[in-house]
Formats: sequence, structure tokens, C-alpha cells
Amino acid sequence: MSKSSEVADAEGASSSSKEEIIRGLNEDLSREYKAIIQYVVFSQTLKGAEYGDIAEQLKEHASQELAHALEVARQIDYLGGDPTVNVKGAEYSQDSKKMLEIDLKQEQETIKSYRERIRQAERSGEFALSEALRDIIAEEQDHEIDLRDALGLR
Ligand SMILES: [Fe+2]
Ligand SMILES: [Fe+2]
Repeated sequence: MSKSSEVADAEGASSSSKEEIIRGLNEDLSREYKAIIQYVVFSQTLKGAEYGDIAEQLKEHASQELAHALEVARQIDYLGGDPTVNVKGAEYSQDSKKMLEIDLKQEQETIKSYRERIRQAERSGEFALSEALRDIIAEEQDHEIDLRDALGLR
């Protein structure tokens, strides 16, 4: 194999994994949009004195999810992709406990998904991206803990 075709192969491989990361990050971005919507609505509609603390925390989650969305969109743009405008279907329940369970499930899916994205980023040598995702995942883990506490799961 000539030197130039080796280089072309290497570039081909890295650009296809880059495409894969961009696709994954766009999934993450639409999930962040969904989280923003759910936390905005639910922090304002949560009923019940026992949920007073978590309502305040959900307001904070909403702001943090917005910061995540901005960071993920920035990373997609940096990689040469187009940040999506699609929102993953937001869910809602008038039952407070059910809504907290919906949020908890969503945080767990989000964490799983970012773990996979960190692995992809590291495989492709995108270390600045994996660092940024680690900061995000730490906050998602805090969200999960807040929700588990509110649901009396720990
Ligand atoms: Fe988030
Ligand atoms: Fe979150």
C-alpha cells in the first residue's frame, strides 16, 4: 500500500467515526431539549408539601440542562456538524410521583448515553470532547441523586 493511500484510509476512518459521534451528540442534544421542557413545566406544577425541596431543585436542573444543550451544540459545531432542532418527545404526568419517575428514567438513559459518547470520543482521540462530557455527566448524576432522594429510593 502506498503512503498516500494509507493516509487516505486513516482519514476515512476518522471521518466516519466523527460522523458517528456527531449523530450521537445530536441524539444527546434532542434529549437535553426534552429535559429542559420537562423540568421547566414540572418545577412549576409539582404539587405537595413533601415535594417543596425537589421543586426548587428541578428549577436548577432546568438551567443546567440548558447549559448542557449549549455545550453539546457547541461541540457538534466544532466537529463540523449541524446541531439538531429536533426535540425528543417530552413526557408529562399530573401525578407528581409519576413525573419524578419519568425524570429519573430520563436521567438514567442520559447517563448511559453520555457514557457511550465518552467511549466513542476517546476511541477517536477527541479528548476535549470527552472532558466536556465528563463535566456534564457529573451533573446528570447529581440530578439522578436528587430524584432518587425525592422518591425515597435511597
Ligand atoms: Fe443534561
Ligand atoms: Fe439531567
